[in-house]
Amino acid sequence: MKALVYRGPGILKLEERPDPVVIQPTDAVVRLTTISICGTDLHILKGDVPSISSGRILGHEGVGIVEAVGPEVHDFRPGDRVLISLTTSCGRCSYCRKGMPSHCRSGGWILGNSIDGTQAEFVRIPFADNGLHHLVPEIDDEAAVLLSCNFPTSLECGTMAASVNPGDRVAIVGAGPVGLAALITCRLYSPSEVIMVDLNGHRLQTALTLGATHIVNATGPAAVEAVLALTKGEGVDAAIEAVGIPESFELCQLILAPGGRLANVGVHGKPVSLHLESLWSANLTFTTRLVDASTTARLLRMVRSGQIHPGLLITHRFAFGDILGAYDTFANATREKAGKMVVRVSE
Ligand SMILES: NC(=O)c1ccc[n+]([C@@H]2O[C@H](COP(=O)([O-])OP(=O)(O)OC[C@H]3O[C@@H](n4cnc5c(N)ncnc54)[C@H](O)[C@@H]3O)[C@@H](O)[C@H]2O)c1
Ligand SMILES: [Zn+2]
Ligand SMILES: [Zn+2]
Repeated sequence: MKALVYRGPGILKLEERPDPVVIQPTDAVVRLTTISICGTDLHILKGDVPSISSGRILGHEGVGIVEAVGPEVHDFRPGDRVLISLTTSCGRCSYCRKGMPSHCRSGGWILGNSIDGTQAEFVRIPFADNGLHHLVPEIDDEAAVLLSCNFPTSLECGTMAASVNPGDRVAIVGAGPVGLAALITCRLYSPSEVIMVDLNGHRLQTALTLGATHIVNATGPAAVEAVLALTKGEGVDAAIEAVGIPESFELCQLILAPGGRLANVGVHGKPVSLHLESLWSANLTFTTRLVDASTTARLLRMVRSGQIHPGLLITHRFAFGDILGAYDTFANATREKAGKMVVRVSE
């Protein structure tokens, strides 16, 4: 099969690789139809995720058709159309039983990380009964593929971790696909204001069409000043960090009202400063999270009922042979006016 392979920081190659097969009795092999690229894949490419070794097939987002299952897969059969969750979980270890499958002792986020991922024609999915979701025909591949990672991340690590409540003032720093999905999911909780901060004018315009009340095209002190001006000097009740660099995390700290919550979503490769000298007394809550993908079933119901439209984030579509072009477009989002990339692998 053809697969997108990581060959060290900055280097991706489309290579020929053997088709994956069922190894464990709980495995399934899925033929991919549609895949997408995550901001995390860009962090991997920058060298921010040291667990990834050269030779790894990237990708943790995908939709496809089950090709083969092991004898202990009970809920899926060859031919089933499925959504692949980025989270692999055994369902039995101490972390799974604590409700934290992202830290499963034999899983977690391993797809496209410590095992080969979805940016290929086929992928092996361990613990398939826990990692796959059946798809009904009313949900198309493009809406579904945003539920592998993008929407569960925004809801769990952003909106829910920041405890967004009715009437809250929310700032979301980073208007990439994850930040924009955080905008969509936080609006389900009726905040009074959602301020989107980014340096990409096109993505900020998209945010306005998705219901942002204000946009701030700045970073650093200028962005702090703008957010404080929009909140009468008080700051926001919830700040969602959806970039993954020191500057954006520091910005989030400086725009919180007393009692505020900062939910970090971004994958960070460098240390950041925490300004406890001024924040120790401010009754703040900081959260970090790896997505559990425990909200996928309810997100699927919301897509089906028309409550959310994940496909609105997609701006570019590529054939699998041009996946390197998809990476280039996504990595140059300002120049390319790019939101979410989807890649069609097969029919
Ligand atoms: N915690 C998790 O489990 C998890 C899961 C998935 C993704 N993520 C992370 O979420 C983050 C967002 O993902 P994405 O797909 O939207 O990525 P992305 O790269 O498309 O978006 C990042 C956005 O941040 C903006 N940005 C850059 N510098 C900025 C600054 N100084 N101030 C404000 N905005 C700035 C960029 O213009 C871009 O629009 C990434 O760090 C990704 O790794 C985390
Ligand atoms: Zn992702
Ligand atoms: Zn487990």
